[in-house]
Amino acid sequence: MSGAVRDIMVVTGAGGMGEAIARRLGAGRVVVLADAAEAQLASAADRLRANGHEVEAIRTDVSSAADVEGLARAAAALGPIRCVVHTAGVSPVQATPEQVVAVDVVGTALVLEAFEPYVVSGTVAVCIASMAGTMTTVDPATLRRLATTPAAGLARLAELDPATMDAGTAYGIAKRANQVRVEAASPAWGRRGGRVVSISPGIIATPMGNAELDGPFGEVMRSMIEMSGTRRVGTADDIAAAVEFLVSPAASFITGTDLLVDGGVIAAVRNAS
Ligand SMILES: NC(=O)c1ccc[n+]([C@@H]2O[C@H](COP(=O)([O-])OP(=O)(O)OC[C@H]3O[C@@H](n4cnc5c(N)ncnc54)[C@H](O)[C@@H]3O)[C@@H](O)[C@H]2O)c1
Repeated sequence: MSGAVRDIMVVTGAGGMGEAIARRLGAGRVVVLADAAEAQLASAADRLRANGHEVEAIRTDVSSAADVEGLARAAAALGPIRCVVHTAGVSPVQATPEQVVAVDVVGTALVLEAFEPYVVSGTVAVCIASMAGTMTTVDPATLRRLATTPAAGLARLAELDPATMDAGTAYGIAKRANQVRVEAASPAWGRRGGRVVSISPGIIATPMGNAELDGPFGEVMRSMIEMSGTRRVGTADDIAAAVEFLVSPAASFITGTDLLVDGGVIAAVRNAS
């Protein structure tokens, strides 16, 4: 390791997307890689190091405020944080409604809150939401509460009571919440010279996406792919390419919004006759 100051890229989630994003954007930066699963974190970090990347692996449960604050502190101590790409998450076939709320809703809010104090000119956060959020309708008052309730109080919102919904419904609300959370955070990040955006992926062939394709809604998902403009499943690198654009100076006028990267699924569903 050289003594020169290196930019820091934080990637939460060492799964399919997190590893692809770290591999595509990590060169010349220190990659701070965070995941709750020790073995997953260690193997992704090893593969990246074997490819020449400089990686600091920090075990982090994104649903824990203490863990996320510790991650932000540790990353900032290494150097200026240029980007935070938040991919850690759980999907309906992997998790209960409680876990979806804790990880996908509260986790994303914690990441945005914990990193805000460390935003410097040019810092960009990209949160991975989902086209499931784009497809979910939430009334405006609830949306406002999802956008602005401090992370510590989010799980107490009646609209997020896990007893009232299944994991699929919780996931749709969670991912819609991610999109509006990013909107609400953008003025404060902007005052520090930073930007914050979300990406809503369609069906992506990662361990999570493949588990969903093998799950109870696999047939429906396959038929949505078949009717889409691209007629293919997405790759983790399709998402990494979108992240690359959003964190670059070419996207310096883009903040507080969502980029749908779904191969045209939503467009096809909305225009199905
Ligand atoms: N794959 C898809 O089809 C798809 C589609 C739309 C959105 N997404 C979203 O993309 C993001 C990345 O998904 P992926 O496809 O790379 O999935 P993945 O399962 O390959 O990776 C997710 C990673 O998050 C980690 N994780 C889970 N809970 C955690 C926690 N509490 N704290 C820290 N880490 C935790 C897992 O250990 C795993 O390594 C997720 O937010 C997911 O909801 C995925």
